Amino acid sequence: MSAPKLKAPRGTFDVLGEQATMRATVEAKARAILEGAGYERIETPTLEATELFARGVGESTDIVQKEMYTLTDGGGRSLTLRPEGTAPVCRAYVEHGMHKRPQPVKLWYLSSFFRYERAQAGRYRQFWQVGAEALGSEDPAVDAESIVLLGTLLAELGVSVRLRISSLGSPDSRMAHRELLQTYLREHEASLSEEVKARIELNPLRAFDSDHEGTRAVMQSAPRLLDQLDEEDKAHFVEVCALLREADVAYEVDPSLVRGLDYYTRTVFEFTSDDLGAQSGVGGGGRYDGLIAQLGGPPTPGMGWAAGIERILLAGTPPAAGAAAPDVYVAWTDLKKPPQGGQGWPRGAVRTAAFGILREARSAGLTAQMELANRSLKGQLGQAAKMNARYVAIVGEQETVLKNMQGGGAQETMATDTVVHTVLRRLRDL
Ligand code: HAM
Repeated sequence: MSAPKLKAPRGTFDVLGEQATMRATVEAKARAILEGAGYERIETPTLEATELFARGVGESTDIVQKEMYTLTDGGGRSLTLRPEGTAPVCRAYVEHGMHKRPQPVKLWYLSSFFRYERAQAGRYRQFWQVGAEALGSEDPAVDAESIVLLGTLLAELGVSVRLRISSLGSPDSRMAHRELLQTYLREHEASLSEEVKARIELNPLRAFDSDHEGTRAVMQSAPRLLDQLDEEDKAHFVEVCALLREADVAYEVDPSLVRGLDYYTRTVFEFTSDDLGAQSGVGGGGRYDGLIAQLGGPPTPGMGWAAGIERILLAGTPPAAGAAAPDVYVAWTDLKKPPQGGQGWPRGAVRTAAFGILREARSAGLTAQMELANRSLKGQLGQAAKMNARYVAIVGEQETVLKNMQGGGAQETMATDTVVHTVLRRLRDL
């Protein structure tokens, strides 16, 4: 009996072929845009202390309450597969004393994250995010710059999006608004969904996010945080919006914008795509001026975003770069086949010469591939054509035939040790 086949766990997937090259395109664009704007790449560990997310993301969030993959390691420590990147980046900022560097410190990442969510199109249990965080400045220009950078990235990747933006103000105005909202929700409890009712105490803001009809009707006239901001927060938000207009970025102010993480203060925003159905959030973020202090660092403002790579690929049209076509395909046939059922391979001089050409071509800066599947010569030429190779070198011990695959198949014969030189010259003369 054969062994049962195994599958990737639900909500996870393999990245193969065209998907892999499209991801490489997304990464290349992100690097060009973000590093061009002074962001440095950061990698943080896949596993972090569970406490980092409990403290950073917030005990009342869905992420911490029910979506974390948490384990106890051999030493009895509680560790969690990172569900998001902002808390780890802030942890690293504190751990490495980055407040001593010129501020703001700008960092970007492209990594995989883990959330135990109901898996469906656009929502996975392991997914990738590209993210950018600017730490150490509360200038509204940081907010606007950060939003513009994500807008540029999405536009270059062919994702058409709408930008919604709002402000959550300071913890004090949020607390005052929270109480107002709780009173309002209690007054209208009879019309609310069970889920919203159950969360009036813990997370009343989520009521704005509900798609329950009765709740939506109640929320139409609910008190809005944006109307309760203090003067400073209001001025900050007005300036962020003015700078976005300055940059010709279209946005809508949406006072009901709710984010699923607790650390936000002031600016919050989301880019949504109407092409994505239920999982319409392509990327989002905001300001988190209290987070670094909450993680034991000096009071330091922060602003950033993350966008889901799978959602970018679902909604966008990133050009598939495709595997690089070889400049030269090194073909060879050796009449001495491997001994039937025997061990090892004959050390044929032709194969050795072919291997030499492969190495020489690569060190001369050419892209090269060699026959590795013992095909017939016809099969090798077919394979080279499939790969879109420019030249095929059919290697002999002394002489080699060089076939120009894109020049009507013209052939010339030359000494084997001059092949690479000839290909280089031909390509240069093009
Ligand atoms: P988030 O909104 O939770 O924010 O996630 C950002 C993006 O990650 C979403 O817009 C979505 O595209 C993608 N995403 C989230 N969950 C999933 C999933 N289960 N499957 C596929 N894609 C998903 C954050 O994570 C914050 N750390 C963003 C941030 C950075 N705020 C400030 N700085």
